[in-house]
Amino acid sequence: MSISVLGIYVADLVFFGKKIPVEGETILGNNFVIGPGGKGSNQAVAAAKAGVKTYFISKIGDDQFGQMATKIYDEAKVDYSNVIVSKEHSTGAAAIMVNEQSGANAINVFPGAAGAITNSDIDKAEETIKNSKIFLTQLEAPKDTVMYAIKKAKDLGVDTILNPAPAADIDKSVFPFIDYFTPNETEASFYLNKPVKNEDDCKVAGNFFLEKGVKNILITLGEKGCYFKNSNEEFLMPASKLNKPVVDTTGAGDAFNGALSVALSQNKTYKQSIEFANLVAGISVTREGAANSMPTKKEIEESIK
Ligand code: RIB
Repeated sequence: MSISVLGIYVADLVFFGKKIPVEGETILGNNFVIGPGGKGSNQAVAAAKAGVKTYFISKIGDDQFGQMATKIYDEAKVDYSNVIVSKEHSTGAAAIMVNEQSGANAINVFPGAAGAITNSDIDKAEETIKNSKIFLTQLEAPKDTVMYAIKKAKDLGVDTILNPAPAADIDKSVFPFIDYFTPNETEASFYLNKPVKNEDDCKVAGNFFLEKGVKNILITLGEKGCYFKNSNEEFLMPASKLNKPVVDTTGAGDAFNGALSVALSQNKTYKQSIEFANLVAGISVTREGAANSMPTKKEIEESIK
């Protein structure tokens, strides 16, 4: 069974320094790297490297940044037959500041070509979506098209995951089409319009999203783990223990979502799926980069020996 991921690819321009500069401030950085990014693309790479056939649906430009995308898809074995190469648009980019002491980041992403994905591009990928066990997407691609694709996937009988990143308003008609909703604390706080920080806040948030029609809610809480709720069960799964220091948290949420879709496509239980997603996210934060930090199936297996 396969996974299809809709989202954006961009080139990440990553600046490492002793802190993340505040508005109006200049700091001297310690390192600069260009690597493959974009939440959807990172999630597709994470899923493919974890060993499940994965299709990515997107749009890139006919340029150097775009070539970096196809290079990592070849390495990770992501099927990119549904990635349109546009002659009219340039591939997007993200400016990422990483605090090398904590691994925390701040990101400004410009989707470029991927900002021009249309409903008709989704229609062209219909067969791919239909043959998938899981359809996974985020909120970086044009919102109307993301919503169109979620409804289409569900109508085709495919389980849907929406990682609402970055958080943005969602029409109430869409929530019942979402099987798995995976905000982090910041994104959950956006929808509730109040802080979501601890387990009690998560319970309130879980009920809020259930009432809207979402089937399963997973709120990722960084080092505190992941809270899960559906109409039958509710639990907090602790984060996995890391055997190396955190160096860069960029793409940790993408590692989680990619790995979650892998485990769900393999019919693992919710607990097993979240444990697996936590494990993969935990490995990714011990490495620099976004797509480049995703572990292979072998590396994941070796980490639990
Ligand atoms: O989730 C991390 C990603 O967000 C980065 O790779 C950046 O490109 C932005 O899309």
